[in-house]
Amino acid sequence: MSIRARVTGTGFFVPDNVVTNDDLAKLINTNDEWIQQRTGIRERRYVPEGMSNVDMAEHAATDAMKEAGRTASDVQALLAATLSPDYTFPSNAPFIQERLGIRNAPAIDLRNQCTGFLYGLATADVFIRSGRYERVLLVGSEIQSSGMEFADRSRDVTVIFGDAAGAFMIEKTEEPDRGILSFALRGDGRSADDLATRAERAYEMPRLSMEIFESEDIWPRMKGRKVFLEAVRELPEIINKALERAGVTLDDVDLFAFHQANLRINQWVASSMNIPDEKVWNNIERYGNTTAATIPSVIHEARQAGFVKDGSLVCAAGFGAGFTSAAVIVRW
Ligand code: ACO
Repeated sequence: MSIRARVTGTGFFVPDNVVTNDDLAKLINTNDEWIQQRTGIRERRYVPEGMSNVDMAEHAATDAMKEAGRTASDVQALLAATLSPDYTFPSNAPFIQERLGIRNAPAIDLRNQCTGFLYGLATADVFIRSGRYERVLLVGSEIQSSGMEFADRSRDVTVIFGDAAGAFMIEKTEEPDRGILSFALRGDGRSADDLATRAERAYEMPRLSMEIFESEDIWPRMKGRKVFLEAVRELPEIINKALERAGVTLDDVDLFAFHQANLRINQWVASSMNIPDEKVWNNIERYGNTTAATIPSVIHEARQAGFVKDGSLVCAAGFGAGFTSAAVIVRW
């Protein structure tokens, strides 16, 4: 009997505070029409003062464990995907572990930005199929708002991102043809500097100085057009690779959960692959790009809306900083 990893609970959390495109236009030289036309985003959420990455992670993780009928003592490994940890070190996972009361389990951060949750799903899959762990909690949580520069030179980046957290409880199953069927992961470090926050840098002495602090290196910088073109080229390839490994076809898929970086990227990929609109769940218009929290947010919402039921075939895929890409095929 072969072992697989199956998702037994999902959770999603966004703060109440809605920030519209018009709100941003009061702070920087942008406008609702440009943002909607170029990205599809209408609004995003920002944490209120004092709410931490771990606070959001706790909400999402608690809901995922609850749906699975699990408590902290059942979790054998904790994976936390984020580019915005509360501390530089230690990693975010031990803080989430402590908050949830998980004991005697490895707690690991995954720093894969927009593909972080998908890399986490792949890691959980391998952990479980190896027989080492039976129950893995995977959390993706991001506070992007505190890392944005509200100035015109950063407007291409600032308008895109929002805050959120999502989580999956993932467990061993011996049911045939259920759970994570395959994954495909890829990295291309040639473009690592094209979407990056360059400070702080360990090779600077000291790594954080007033000079660096006052430079633009403390803010994210992105070659937006290059990211766009690479994303629409890479996503179909990585999706096809994962489908092939799962032994299923594009037509078999019931729901495509794409990373939400730009609605136009997703529309481009869907139309180039002849994927009908009704098989794609997008939520970028309400949340923006929430990086490691995006994939669980899309799947959680699609489940709640009845688009993912037991037996549904889900293809989750993303592209982001690194550049990295990933696709995971799951039979629900
Ligand atoms: N409001 C108004 N005007 C703007 C804004 C804004 N927020 N941002 C840029 N502009 C202007 C530019 O200054 C430029 O003006 P100019 O022609 O006078 O010089 C014009 O709009 C066009 O700028 P481009 O950067 O060429 O616009 P583009 O059509 O490429 O859209 C965008 C920019 C939306 C960022 C797009 O390139 C994109 O979505 N790229 C991919 C983003 C992405 O996928 N990121 C990856 C995820 S992030 C992660 O992994 C952490």
